Amino acid sequence: MLIRRPPAFALRDNAVTPQSAWLNRRHVLAALAAAGGSLALPERAAARGAPPQDAFAPLKSTPTAYTVADPPTPWEAVTTYNNYYEFGTGKGDPARRSGRYVTRPWSVTVEGEAHKTGTFALEDLIDFNALEERIYRHRCVEAWSMVIPWVGVPLGPVLHRFAPTSHARFVQFFTRWERKNMPGTFWPVLKWPYREGLRLDEAMHPLAFLAVGVYGRVLPNQNGAPLRLVVPWKYGYKSIKSIDRIVFTRNQPQTSWNMSNPREYGFYSNVNPHVDHPRWSQASERVIGPQTGLAGALARRKTQMFNGYGDAVARLYAGMDLRKYH
Ligand code: MTE
Repeated sequence: MLIRRPPAFALRDNAVTPQSAWLNRRHVLAALAAAGGSLALPERAAARGAPPQDAFAPLKSTPTAYTVADPPTPWEAVTTYNNYYEFGTGKGDPARRSGRYVTRPWSVTVEGEAHKTGTFALEDLIDFNALEERIYRHRCVEAWSMVIPWVGVPLGPVLHRFAPTSHARFVQFFTRWERKNMPGTFWPVLKWPYREGLRLDEAMHPLAFLAVGVYGRVLPNQNGAPLRLVVPWKYGYKSIKSIDRIVFTRNQPQTSWNMSNPREYGFYSNVNPHVDHPRWSQASERVIGPQTGLAGALARRKTQMFNGYGDAVARLYAGMDLRKYH
């Protein structure tokens, strides 16, 4: 359920999981604020002897209208129960096996139907002084869900800066494929590099978000460092991790899951409790959280149309048969 409330970061402290990193963050942020830092670059943090080098300064206070009511899923679950097939298909594989993957410095190449294309440093793509926190529900196609406090910027304005041409109707994203440090890609489980796509109007929707952090910290590798997409009304697999290429296209682009099994994974992939996955129901979901433990199956909730964001996004699909365009 969506409620209108003050900025996400203004949540009461006790509404947020009391995990050590989160508590620690408050000290780090205070130190950073005192130092006038916006993003704790490793060198600076090291130079000051600051504790973690991966915390962001206090976040921008722009109110967001879309925040889920439920408390965020604990940090431990968010960062150890992941899907990131480049590092393996097990939920614990990404946290265990992504350590060698280096995500700074980072650049993103922009191509296709846009007036401004080229390769851009991450810091030129994302304004680290304008970061926001968005607490979104995260619904995996495997019928489990989390509530995650992301840090980042809305996707639309970032794309807008590249001035898509009048022919651009879609946008495709690619994950950087580094065979050596991505042990999961030795097997053709999916089409590598991992790729995803959105219709341009979906991508421009104010809910679509580019995350560089989670729980106030720089994204851990397993969560998609240094840059991932978050599209909260779609199944989690649309939220591609470690983006290094963005392509504006005229035609509907290929997406990894759809290429591997088009019957099971459509291009749109909107959360829809009325359209089951061919092998399981999508009517409800297992809530990953402290009550259930990481692999628990106790807490379930009914899945909501568009993951509860219908008021905001249903108009994007007016007149479309969502069974056909699943
Ligand atoms: N991005 C890449 N590059 N590779 C992946 O395997 N898995 C997707 C998506 N993005 C995936 C990916 C799937 S299936 C899900 S549910 C979400 O990431 C999981 O995000 P999380 O691990 O941060 O919860």
